[in-house]
Amino acid sequence: EKKLSVAIDGPAAAGKSTVAKITAEKFNYIYVDTGAMYRALTYKALLQGVNVSDELALKQLLEITAIELQPSEIGQLVYVDGENVTSEIRNNEVTSTVSEVSKHRLVREEMVRRQQELGRSGGVVMDGRDIGTHVLPDAEVKVFLIASVDERAHRRYQENMQKGFSADIEKLKEEIALRDKLDSEREVSPLKKAADAIEIDTTSLTIEQVAEKIIVLIEERK
Ligand code: C5P
Repeated sequence: EKKLSVAIDGPAAAGKSTVAKITAEKFNYIYVDTGAMYRALTYKALLQGVNVSDELALKQLLEITAIELQPSEIGQLVYVDGENVTSEIRNNEVTSTVSEVSKHRLVREEMVRRQQELGRSGGVVMDGRDIGTHVLPDAEVKVFLIASVDERAHRRYQENMQKGFSADIEKLKEEIALRDKLDSEREVSPLKKAADAIEIDTTSLTIEQVAEKIIVLIEERK
């Protein structure tokens, strides 16, 4: 049985990480949340007062930063230099700064190198923005998930309520639309559907329905 590489890309809050996790579990593949890696670096840069427009400073910071993704019962855990930052990397400050950090070429080169290393032996489901186009260009399965901004803001709102955070739906819409704009318009490996990716509009689908579609694609190619 072949161990495939699966690339799941798409805009912010399109449900990538949830379906990627379900899919990885189903086949016993490794799950790599590449957004969490950019968030982890952003968290550390903010903590240390590193200027996020200083590309060289960020590259140097990344070089001395260990980022670990660990699966667990309660979902993926994220560690920076051994410290559990799973919830911190989702805060508003990190979320509104991460696109500034991820736009830099030197940051992306090192992140892509680490991501390719994690995916080296196949049997991997990786989600992000440039997985099908740059990180795993030879992935056997490439999916591009989309959903309307309204639907994505609504999902994020529900998620926040469940976690006990309050959220303003209009603010969420703005944040999501701005992040999509920055991620799509940056010069280095922007958010873009790979030519050979299959687009799935998840607006009127449940998480389970989306995961099932991806599972079928994997079964077909295994
Ligand atoms: O997936 P998530 O929303 O957590 O990603 C956070 C941010 O990290 C994105 O908005 C984007 O700026 C950056 N990112 C990226 N390339 C990836 C994954 C994430 O530039 N492969």
